Amino acid sequence: MTQLAYSPDELLASVAYDEPLIAGGVRCHGGFVAGRYVSPRTAHRVPAIAAWQAQLGAAGHPLVDVPAALIPPHYPNAEQAKLLLREGVQEPLTRTLTTIAIIEGFGAMIRDQPVPDLTRCVKETLDGTAVAHLATGLFEAHARDEAGHRTEGGHKQMWEAARDLALNKPAVPADVLMRLMTGRRGGPRRRLFPQLDPSFEELLTTMVNVLVIEIFAADTFRWAEEVLGDAEVSAAPDGAADMVRYIRSDETPHVEYLRTALSELRARTLLGAQGEELAGSEVVDGLLNRTLHALTTQRPRLQREDTRTDICAALAAHRDAAAVQRRFDALETEWTAPAVDGDLVRLVPQGVTATRAHR
Ligand SMILES: [Fe+2]
Ligand SMILES: [Fe+2]
Repeated sequence: MTQLAYSPDELLASVAYDEPLIAGGVRCHGGFVAGRYVSPRTAHRVPAIAAWQAQLGAAGHPLVDVPAALIPPHYPNAEQAKLLLREGVQEPLTRTLTTIAIIEGFGAMIRDQPVPDLTRCVKETLDGTAVAHLATGLFEAHARDEAGHRTEGGHKQMWEAARDLALNKPAVPADVLMRLMTGRRGGPRRRLFPQLDPSFEELLTTMVNVLVIEIFAADTFRWAEEVLGDAEVSAAPDGAADMVRYIRSDETPHVEYLRTALSELRARTLLGAQGEELAGSEVVDGLLNRTLHALTTQRPRLQREDTRTDICAALAAHRDAAAVQRRFDALETEWTAPAVDGDLVRLVPQGVTATRAHR
């Protein structure tokens, strides 16, 4: 019989490594087996997620996904970023990579996400599901991957190492953290399903937001791999691109457990605080659609404006600023989210072996 219940220790266990990963002098999570990088805490977590997905598939339920066409491309694009580096303008890329490192560190907060008593929130049983393991291993593994754990570095330290390798330990702008803390913020979250217990809707909203951010981040990672891996502009193309690749591989279980848990809830009946019954699909799809609308329209536009302002400011010190700016603008690629009526969520009917590769 396939194992569907796992202890926290199992979900946090790594395979036995031949060699650890050292990044920028820091011992990081993960390591190498027969020369190949293996992500941390995946000895049981990866087969567990595959087993929960297979269980869903066997019951005829699809997995939720985000259509690739909705993923906003990173700004500036890889060619624009390389132009800036060739012209000796490092600050915008240093800022971006430092910001990514800090945001990865914030990922530790997922371990503080309260999980209410789900037997009061969901009608059917959750035994042997990803949902049943959120508070007992899955959130903790995720938090450790992002921020590191004890003496071991995580994605925060790995991004810093990738930056320092590629750009030769650049001077980091002093205001990166301050700008992040005081930057644009969304308003208070409006409740979409006030019938649900507030802590349950909060949990679902967090999972949906983190899932979409994780899926969208894949494009930034591809971009970083291309820029930092280019020998013309990177001081350590192989080492820096490898580091980004390791991080990308660690992100796969994050996307997979979140979409599995949301799909399990989608397939169930959710209970309101007064005992009302709501179709899980209505709630999960409603929350996903809201997040996808916001993150494919306002957010890329605001991010682009902010980044452009930074780039113009960094270019001002260049002796040929106007010409570089013109060349930069000539490489511009326009992007707007494809117009989709209604549902943005993609449902993937799956066989018993479907685990999607992280894009
Ligand atoms: Fe990460
Ligand atoms: Fe992640």
